[in-house]
Amino acid sequence: MTTAGQVIRCKAAVAWESGKPLIIEDVEVAPPKIHEVRIKIIATGVCHTDNEYLFETGKGMKFRPFPLVLGHEAAGIVESVGPEVTNFSPGDKVIPLFLPQCQDCERCHNPETNHCRRNWANTQAGVLADGTSRISCKGQQVYQFLGISSFSQYTVVPDTSLAKIRSDAPLDKVFLLGCGVSTGYGAAVKTGKVKKGSSCAVFGLGAVGLAAVMGCQIAGATTIIGVDVNPEKFEKAVFFGATECVNPKDHTKPIQEVLVEKTDGGVDYALECVGDPAVMSAALESTTDGWGICVIAGWTETEVMQVEVEKILMGRTLMGTYFGGWKSVQDIPTLVDNYMDGKLKLDEFITDHLPLDQINKAFETLKSGTSIRTKISLWQEEA
Ligand SMILES: NC(=O)c1ccc[n+]([C@@H]2O[C@H](COP(=O)([O-])OP(=O)(O)OC[C@H]3O[C@@H](n4cnc5c(N)ncnc54)[C@H](O)[C@@H]3O)[C@@H](O)[C@H]2O)c1
Ligand SMILES: [Zn+2]
Ligand SMILES: [Zn+2]
Repeated sequence: MTTAGQVIRCKAAVAWESGKPLIIEDVEVAPPKIHEVRIKIIATGVCHTDNEYLFETGKGMKFRPFPLVLGHEAAGIVESVGPEVTNFSPGDKVIPLFLPQCQDCERCHNPETNHCRRNWANTQAGVLADGTSRISCKGQQVYQFLGISSFSQYTVVPDTSLAKIRSDAPLDKVFLLGCGVSTGYGAAVKTGKVKKGSSCAVFGLGAVGLAAVMGCQIAGATTIIGVDVNPEKFEKAVFFGATECVNPKDHTKPIQEVLVEKTDGGVDYALECVGDPAVMSAALESTTDGWGICVIAGWTETEVMQVEVEKILMGRTLMGTYFGGWKSVQDIPTLVDNYMDGKLKLDEFITDHLPLDQINKAFETLKSGTSIRTKISLWQEEA
């Protein structure tokens, strides 16, 4: 029996208010409207950004409206398409995207940027193009985080915020390309353009940082220093390519001084994957004068980082990366191919596996640092 055109009743983890655990609810997911696609989510990760929005909204993060269904790192299958959708059909395997690529606007035509602004203000505010969400619970509209909401068995996204991927891709692995791994890998190879033979320092060894380490290794860097205050991350970092790891807590000197001494003047590339303004400054200061490049991948929306002007005057470059610099619709299928060809590792990022009704545990282990990524299965048969 087809569900196309009908409201689907399914399970979702709803954030009713900031700072409180998620609650599993029955929600209604409306059919897709014009240029929208309804997808059955198969697997989703819990990213640091989900945690920030739930627990830090109004602090390091701008205020987001509640109730909200979080989740933005996922993979699924097209259930039905709305009017005017030409690129997708029911049954297609897809990765929803928090950064669109409309292939139509000035930004999409510009090879220098991936910052498409299609539906931007709306998706940031948790609604789709017509100003409303497709998810409701107990008669109330539930906002869609970044226009996605993958902590729901079904969701609706704009057709410009969706990548179609090959039919043999395992959704329970490639969901990682919806955010963390693509961001960290791209921070190194796409935004920073790490060169062969260079020296790199990666600050923060969560999924984003480990993917940055992997990117530095694939780019041919010869020195890759992993930096984290949690030494339990070091073994994985070495697996992904770190040549050594440093815990700032083991040193009395600031970490940037330790790194400058260790590398005889500073690293060629520093990648910040923590989201802390003090660590961002330390990352910049750990690069060499003349040509050092610091890429910020860590996320904060309201805080300010300090930059000593002299550091920039002496030839360093400070850059930021959003979704690793990838043009989302076009590049994510290529990253899926890279995984299928054995060039990119994904399986090793997944340290835990839980069903949707235990999703709050994934937030706890992300915070405590005992997990890298927990795979959340949305359906019993996949759990
Ligand atoms: N730019 C983007 O498009 C984008 C996309 C996804 C995530 N992010 C951001 O990237 C950051 C990392 O995300 P994640 O999911 O890997 O997070 P995570 O929580 O899994 O990892 C963060 C790591 O940083 C370490 N850390 C904390 N304080 C530190 C310090 N002072 N020095 C060194 N290491 C420290 C932690 O121990 C942890 O291992 C977050 O800020 C997230 O919001 C950005
Ligand atoms: Zn994320
Ligand atoms: Zn565009």
